[in-house]
Amino acid sequence: KKIILSGIKPSGALTLGSYIGAIKNWVELSETYDCYYMMADLHAVTVRQEPAALRRRTLEQIAQYIACGLDPEKNVIFIQSQVPAHAELAWVLNCYTMFGELSRMTQFKDKSAKNADNINAGLFTYPVLMAADILVYQADLVPVGEDQKQHVELTRDIAGRFNGIYGDVFKLPEPFIPKVGARIMSLQEPANKMSKSETDNGGCICLLDKPEDVMRAFKRAVTDSETEIRYDVKAKPGVSNLLQIYAVATGKTIPDAEAEFSGKGYGVFKQAVGEAVVELLRPVREEAEHLLADKAYLEKVYTEGAEKAARTASKTLRKVYKKVGFVQKS
Ligand code: TYM
Repeated sequence: KKIILSGIKPSGALTLGSYIGAIKNWVELSETYDCYYMMADLHAVTVRQEPAALRRRTLEQIAQYIACGLDPEKNVIFIQSQVPAHAELAWVLNCYTMFGELSRMTQFKDKSAKNADNINAGLFTYPVLMAADILVYQADLVPVGEDQKQHVELTRDIAGRFNGIYGDVFKLPEPFIPKVGARIMSLQEPANKMSKSETDNGGCICLLDKPEDVMRAFKRAVTDSETEIRYDVKAKPGVSNLLQIYAVATGKTIPDAEAEFSGKGYGVFKQAVGEAVVELLRPVREEAEHLLADKAYLEKVYTEGAEKAARTASKTLRKVYKKVGFVQKS
């Protein structure tokens, strides 16, 4: 059976971007594969977090994973910081990753430009921890959005380098990126990715947003000065983004969506996209609220998840420690 690993940082609420780019595929893959889905809290602290908020969002994120359709009986759902092997393997992999490689990571370059007063070492070595997350489970596939592709490629490079020295220790993972929706854009600035750092201005939709807020954000979504509803990412980024969201939310193809709105105005179109997203999110929000009321159940899910994850992860870690020459614990 193939192995899947992926995760999301609880550094903000889950967004429609991460749902379409990642979680939707997780749910589909979860039917046939052995899946590990985590809350990447170790990655979240590369940026300052308010401790109580981080804790709350981590639990909310677990509830939302389940509410999106990930069955904890069939998937290993866990919190990254509760499985020490991630950080332990990351240390070793740090010693097999080059300064130059990390300097070329576009996400590091973007984030350090935006966050010039806190360019910490964790932000720099972030992709090495991500490589450890993936390699420690010997994952075959890593379902992520477009922006994480470079990190998965670096993971392959690090694994290949390590295998080149010590023999076949790590499986080389492949990124698994959706054909439609790999990069959902901000509703306010369609040149930028929809991101959790942008929840206040209506550019970002979160999974737990109220229907009226979702409708308001879509009605205000930036389009262009034409009137035609046509998929053309370069010339019409706002409209194309809405077409992608609509297609994913309704299960239709983009050409079908174009045909459906041919001759109709942007107002009608934006209303329809908003309604489709409200319907997509309604069951998720209701189920998540229900789950959040049951703290004992969530605790059981992440505790069992961490135990299962640690069992798998420790096998790889033990092998790595042996290969590099650490003395085995008796
Ligand atoms: P994060 O938390 O930034 O995003 C979580 C996932 O959602 C995808 N995504 C999007 N997809 C399409 N359009 C968008 N606007 C959008 N915004 C986010 C991301 O591509 C990602 O798949 N480093 C990772 C977390 C991580 C991880 C891992 C992922 C840590 N360890 C191991 C995979 C495997 C991150 O910051 O994702």
